[in-house]
Amino acid sequence: MDVLKIREQIPVCQNMTYVNTGWSGPSPFSVVKAIKDRLDLEMNQGPTTSEVYQAGRDIQANIKTAMADLINASVDELCVTRNTTEGLNIVMNGLTWEEGDEIITCDLEHSSVLIPSYYQQHRHGAVVKVLQFNPNENRESILEKISDAITDRTKMVFLSHVEYSTGLRMPVKEIRQLTKSREIFMLLDGAQSAGHIALDMKDLDCDFYSIPGQKWLLGPEGVGALYIRQDLISQVQPTFVAGRSSLSPGNPYGFEPNVESMDKFLLTSTSVALQAGALEAIRFVNDPGVAAIEERDLDLSTILKQALVDVPGINLLSPMDRQDSTGLVSLTVDGMTPEEAVNRLWQEHRIVCRQVSFPPGLRISLHFFNTEEEVEQVVEALKRLV
Ligand SMILES: Cc1ncc(COP(=O)(O)O)c(C=O)c1O
Repeated sequence: MDVLKIREQIPVCQNMTYVNTGWSGPSPFSVVKAIKDRLDLEMNQGPTTSEVYQAGRDIQANIKTAMADLINASVDELCVTRNTTEGLNIVMNGLTWEEGDEIITCDLEHSSVLIPSYYQQHRHGAVVKVLQFNPNENRESILEKISDAITDRTKMVFLSHVEYSTGLRMPVKEIRQLTKSREIFMLLDGAQSAGHIALDMKDLDCDFYSIPGQKWLLGPEGVGALYIRQDLISQVQPTFVAGRSSLSPGNPYGFEPNVESMDKFLLTSTSVALQAGALEAIRFVNDPGVAAIEERDLDLSTILKQALVDVPGINLLSPMDRQDSTGLVSLTVDGMTPEEAVNRLWQEHRIVCRQVSFPPGLRISLHFFNTEEEVEQVVEALKRLV
């Protein structure tokens, strides 16, 4: 992988040490150019002129195919969304919940997992079981805790593939084995996985998976995708509906719901320009390939963790074992709140990272465009904070 060449195409790399991809990834030139080109075309030629309109339809079809290919799903099992959370809400609000249905999740989760779960408790009397995990809980223990929590009322296991708080990589294939034999739904939040680790829906065989375009894929904010396994599409009712949610949209006197197609979740207008940018972003990460990116991100985070593990005053929260790790590394600095540490890294070193709330920590995101020198710079800056 030619990291220097990759960096030349991402302007932010020339201006600062950007280690915050887990929040929002920096876009390459080509992504922003694709967005601008499409906006210019619409401005100059009109968005509904037949050629412009048709080119937009092509972009919409191409982004759907690119997202499906990225996660090895069929195009019929995918719809383009605005972000991860929209996809998670489509599933959570589209399934039928009854009093006592149990949702198993854990306390390392993002609010986009916890809040849609609690809303089913609030509205329908579902029971949210929040398992207590250590920030670097080992996989045997994760599986044991999930297995122990399952009852004959468990309807869903809802987790992130990669925990945003500590970068812990969940043993999703093993969890799938626990759920499949008991006919329990598995919904995965892929906010921290798409473009970061290689994804294969056919191999994983999970039920629902939602991804964003703006984080590890380096696309613009506003484009994501939702996967629903083919045989489950009809079980998820669309919450918001429009023409494509009907098989007879033009008939004012008759109505037939669109049950089988992912199109039922699509509303009306959307930003083709942003989708053009997302398409370019997928091309950009597909060049080195996500499998190679996954290894590079792991190499970088290993260097960071090895350099910090014995530093007095720095406490790593993330797992050390490579199979449980990702490019996300969380830690605390003695005597300082994560917020203070994040602010000082920016003000004193031009290092951009973020704090996470539970467990409280400072989080560094390392992606393929980051360099070993930048990791070293982060290590030195953290030592100086101590
Ligand atoms: C695990 C997780 N889920 C959901 C989100 C929200 O992502 P989006 O803006 O794509 O909905 C994030 C963002 O940080 C996240 O880390």
